[in-house]
Amino acid sequence: RAQQALVRESWQRVRGDPVQHGTVLFRRLFDLDPDLLPLFQYNCKQFASPQECLSAPEFLDHIRKVMLVIDAAVNQLENLPCLEEYLYNLGKKHQAVGVKVESFSTVGESLLYMLENCLGTAFCPDVREAWTKLYDAVVKAMRHGWDT
Ligand code: HEM
Repeated sequence: RAQQALVRESWQRVRGDPVQHGTVLFRRLFDLDPDLLPLFQYNCKQFASPQECLSAPEFLDHIRKVMLVIDAAVNQLENLPCLEEYLYNLGKKHQAVGVKVESFSTVGESLLYMLENCLGTAFCPDVREAWTKLYDAVVKAMRHGWDT
């Protein structure tokens, strides 16, 4: 469908440099909700600032992981149910590390911000709507991880 083509085409411009664009996403996320910063701890060590977090190798790995999940969703647009079980377990893991399901709407805002930042005027209302739909479907599948 047309919306799927919009998502695929726009993702082509982002996927080439996942760490750069993922950093834009998470910098925005910490601006919108600084309370998310303490959830990222590696070897029990807390980051003193978003800047410190955004340059830690372990956190850059998390950015890569996030971008890979989005990449998988874009590749499976016609068949998102095949990711359902994976996303359910991913939701469970995030619940276990203390993430609230509501925070995923702030992540969604930050994703749209990153896309607009990367795509400029190509990020038209149709593209925004197509991405909102895809992101909502991903979160809907992850949300079940909080239900139990
Ligand atoms: C793992 C936090 C959003 C994908 C983790 C871990 C933490 C975490 C603490 C474990 C440590 C690590 O692997 O680096 C958060 C927070 C988020 C967030 C606070 C935003 C509120 C996301 C999103 C995705 C994602 C949006 C993808 C759609 C992953 C993956 C893992 C992970 C794939 C590895 C899971 C595994 O080990 O099997 N996350 N995350 N995260 N996160 Fe997130």
